[in-house]
Amino acid sequence: MARNPKVIIIDQDPSARAETQRMLALSGFAVMGAAGYGMEAMTLARETEPEVVVVSLEEPIARSLQTVESVADVLPQVPIIAYSSISDPSYIRRAMQVGVKDYLVAPLEEEELGRSINGVLAQEERRQQRLTGEVEAQSCGTVVTIFGAKGGIGKTTIATNLATALVQKTGQSVALVDLDTRFGDVAILMDMPTDRSISDLALPDEEIDRDAVQSCLYTHGTGVAILPAPIRPSEWHSIHPGHIEKVVAVLAATHDYVLLDTPGAFNDIVSRALEMCTILLLTATPDLAALKDTILALEMLRSWSFPSEKVKIVINHTSDAQGDARVDIRRVLGKEVFWSIPYDRSISQVTQLGMPIVAAKPKAKASQSFVEMAYAIGGIRSRPKGMLERLGDHIPLLGRPQGGPEAVPEVAAEGVPEPATEAPARSATEAPARSATEAPARSATEEWTR
Ligand SMILES: Nc1ncnc2c1ncn2[C@@H]1O[C@H](COP(=O)(O)OP(=O)(O)OP(=O)(O)O)[C@@H](O)[C@H]1O
Ligand SMILES: [Mg+2]
Repeated sequence: MARNPKVIIIDQDPSARAETQRMLALSGFAVMGAAGYGMEAMTLARETEPEVVVVSLEEPIARSLQTVESVADVLPQVPIIAYSSISDPSYIRRAMQVGVKDYLVAPLEEEELGRSINGVLAQEERRQQRLTGEVEAQSCGTVVTIFGAKGGIGKTTIATNLATALVQKTGQSVALVDLDTRFGDVAILMDMPTDRSISDLALPDEEIDRDAVQSCLYTHGTGVAILPAPIRPSEWHSIHPGHIEKVVAVLAATHDYVLLDTPGAFNDIVSRALEMCTILLLTATPDLAALKDTILALEMLRSWSFPSEKVKIVINHTSDAQGDARVDIRRVLGKEVFWSIPYDRSISQVTQLGMPIVAAKPKAKASQSFVEMAYAIGGIRSRPKGMLERLGDHIPLLGRPQGGPEAVPEVAAEGVPEPATEAPARSATEAPARSATEAPARSATEEWTR
């Protein structure tokens, strides 16, 4: 992609045009010129041969759409981005039909505009590569990175249980990669050997193929394929982010899901795990210190222009005392909570068995929460019902004891996605009395910022 992509602006309003020009220049784009609709726009497009056209779509909409269509005829390869005060879906659809690649609703913001331009340019570049056969058939496994701003907040617990729930409930293949560069403990939690590990894949790029990766994978009794971390943290020195990228790409070509567990500290490996993910489970506990660090994490992601739709907030109640905080997590983080996992002391108990709780105690409230989360990540909106539940749809009194919100209030309160209007801290206030098994989160914030 060009370092200073060439852009032209088409806007009928001179002052709006100047403002857009200012924003683009500040974001480092080379503004080649600005024009109004009609012939003026066509001439500018022909003369400047831009890489992106930014066009205002305002009333009379027929005229601005006609301009877009004509510009698209002159510059068929060049992406067009529209901005408009009109947010009516029928107009947006119409704009897309005439060739607009992205549609930004006013007020236009510098950051959003920059992201949009870079996004359409990347798409165009990829389209060109496809046409010239430069793009290899892509892996289509979903990469889920489990990340958090602290240690001890349940990332590995989530990774192992989510992996198990995905395999067992969706029937799809799952690989779990331990990227904890300090003390990777996926293998311990799953009671697996670590004779081979990801450090055996510190190979030249062309040697990291399916066979090599397969030879380092262990299949757990639950069906999850595990790529352990090396036992000694020093072995990570031989692994660089390029290795991780290749290993994950190979796994994503052979598995439906690739889960990446990360440490409670930040480094280049974690950075690559974030770049590569389809979904980022940004994990936090509901205490103020963890939330403060999560705000910093969100700010860091924003400064990288990390796509916000990838970020899913997961609140894990690793302690039964965290409910005391009574914070409105959604308001504090400025983002919806995707999932809330209840405190469940059986989690620590089953850790001794080397089995994720989902497999060892499927009826535990945390297990049910992980299973529902797996369905949500799998995009399964209505999970398959058992026979009694199905009968219960017809005979209500029969159905209730077997499942559904009435039968398992803790899960219903904690384990479903939070509706837009509700305070996610609600579940925290309902936690039971304090237990001796809780594990306090360790702060890693100082290691964290780049
Ligand atoms: N929902 C929960 N209820 C009760 N205990 C939990 C819950 N989630 C995690 N724990 C416990 O919290 C502790 C820390 O969990 P875990 O090791 O998964 O955290 P982590 O974020 O991976 O830590 P690290 O950053 O050190 O890798 C463990 O003892 C685990 O059993
Ligand atoms: Mg961990």
